[in-house]
Amino acid sequence: MSNYHIKHLEEYYQVYRKSVREPENFWEEVAEEHFMWQKKWDNVLSWDFNKPEVKWFEGAELNITENCIDRHLATRGEKTAILFEPNDPKEPAEHITYKQLHERVNKFANVLKSQGITKGDRVCIYLPMIPELAISILACARIGAIHSVVFAGFSATALSTRINDSDCKMVVTSDGSYRGAKTIDLKGIVDEALESCPGVKTVLVAKRIHSDIQMKAGRDKWLQPLLDEASNACEIEVMKAEDPLFILYTSGSTGKPKGMVHTTAGYMVYTAYTFKNVFQYRENDVYWCTADIGWITGHSYIVYGPLANGATTLMFEGVPSYPDFGRFWDIVEKHKVNQFYTAPTAIRALAKQGTEVIEKHDLSSIKVLGSVGEPINEEAWHWYNDNIGKKKSPIVDTWWQTETGGIMITPIPFVTPTKPTYATLPFIGIQPALMDEEGNELKANQVDGRLCIKFPWPAMARTIWGNHQRYKDTYFSAYENKYFTGDGALRDEVGYYRITGRVDDVIIVSGHNLGTAPIEDAVNEHPAVAESAIVGFPHDVKGNALYGYVILKDVGESRDQDNLRKEINQIITEHIGPIAKLDKIQFTSGLPKTRSGKIMRRILRKIACKDTSNLGDTSTLLNPEVVKDIMDNVL
Ligand code: WT7
Repeated sequence: MSNYHIKHLEEYYQVYRKSVREPENFWEEVAEEHFMWQKKWDNVLSWDFNKPEVKWFEGAELNITENCIDRHLATRGEKTAILFEPNDPKEPAEHITYKQLHERVNKFANVLKSQGITKGDRVCIYLPMIPELAISILACARIGAIHSVVFAGFSATALSTRINDSDCKMVVTSDGSYRGAKTIDLKGIVDEALESCPGVKTVLVAKRIHSDIQMKAGRDKWLQPLLDEASNACEIEVMKAEDPLFILYTSGSTGKPKGMVHTTAGYMVYTAYTFKNVFQYRENDVYWCTADIGWITGHSYIVYGPLANGATTLMFEGVPSYPDFGRFWDIVEKHKVNQFYTAPTAIRALAKQGTEVIEKHDLSSIKVLGSVGEPINEEAWHWYNDNIGKKKSPIVDTWWQTETGGIMITPIPFVTPTKPTYATLPFIGIQPALMDEEGNELKANQVDGRLCIKFPWPAMARTIWGNHQRYKDTYFSAYENKYFTGDGALRDEVGYYRITGRVDDVIIVSGHNLGTAPIEDAVNEHPAVAESAIVGFPHDVKGNALYGYVILKDVGESRDQDNLRKEINQIITEHIGPIAKLDKIQFTSGLPKTRSGKIMRRILRKIACKDTSNLGDTSTLLNPEVVKDIMDNVL
């Protein structure tokens, strides 16, 4: 049981040192003692960041669902695995035991098989936060199909791009979804997306809102009758350690979304181990992560990490504001939640509501609070600490990425002393490095630089689906022999890390990772638009919001600008989704460009942030005169 559960700071340093000095021995012990293997590995790790190629536990054979479900049956069969809290508080919560989860996953897996899905096939899952989402993911994993979950807030165009990129054969969706007081026609979005996805042969439709929808003959099938007929026994497919488990898309600063590929054994070991330690999960705790399973946070810390530890993981279908802003606290009280993991944007939105609604609820079950997705500002940190944690529940500010698969820099609660706005120390096995712009590693403390990781960890993404070159270019080319995160960070006098934000053209809005290029492409689709540039600016709830500078084709013509703004945001909604809408749109006659024609976003960013005291040297611009014009008309 040696190093699995870290309980005090000295132990952290001791285990950390071991994980750096003898990484292979360290991870081998963790893997050996805590998981079920059909066959053990021949080699713990081989890696080459120049190729790049990373393999963990090569030669091993396993199935992740055997680890997440079957092995708990003997001891935890009647324990709740998934606790489903519906959108409507009047609808009863559903407790799905490990035994029931086993049956439901097996049935679903048999349905996938009966519809022709086999090992290695890609299945797109486009579902709201209902139990079928977790179950369909696990059903894919059970038979070795590669799941590609697309967040159900993405538009039809975004969905079809993702389906086609990874050549999915099947889509799993529902007749609709509930979101607060609204219902959303998910199936209609799927139908529209599939007009341009010839590879999809089957659509499985779960019933959620009982709406009257169109079913396309031969393609669309109701899920329930198929499940009713299916056997509740399904043998696992024996997978190799490095077989792909899933694809999950994330935005890049340019080009189409990147389908990050995560593989089986390393991902399982790392998400399980981080879950146990970062949340200090104890048997019978109720753990709740408010993320959507459509993001990596949900994959790793609603589904795989918790279930691999035999935990009870709460899945919430709704939104924090429905029926009122007390909903989160209502759920915490009702289910006696012990670990609560959410995003700074949610914290800020809830903080705006005042504390009266909180005082009506008993939050005494909470032991650990988590934050993820973007830097947490000092004010939000204190609000969370004072009002939700009552100054006795440590906040784990967890830094990580879709690409890293699991939490990378974080306090361990009751172990690492926390410090507001600091993600604090690297997790066991993680070797961060801060780099200067010339590519030198900054070895001292009290420095800031670009955050890299210099040694592989088990859950790192292995490639970008269909584009290994892009994987290399994006993550392994900026600095030799290092994984580059795209974030800036500083390290304080005791070695704590504070993440300062993206250093590339990715903007984090409400914790969602958005690339500027695809949004600009969408804006440029508007017939009146000649060119556009998008930057982020600070927003008190969303963290960042989007500011668009737009050049119109026909300047002479006087147009209704507000109407144009609406149309531009409508196009963005159609191409990407409402999360990418622009908060401000400034029409301008030009954009500041370098002599080689590159837009100087740095200047645009400063203007949007109303921070124009030091714009730097603008004289080298091709068109320095536009800067003043833009500043004069800033919104
Ligand atoms: C980017 C990754 C993996 C969780 C969900 C987001 C930012 C994430 C933190 C944090 C400061 C954070 C980074 C990172 N980020 N967590 N605790 N403090 N920044 O995953 O969509 O892949 O976004 O989110 O900028 O690079 P993602």
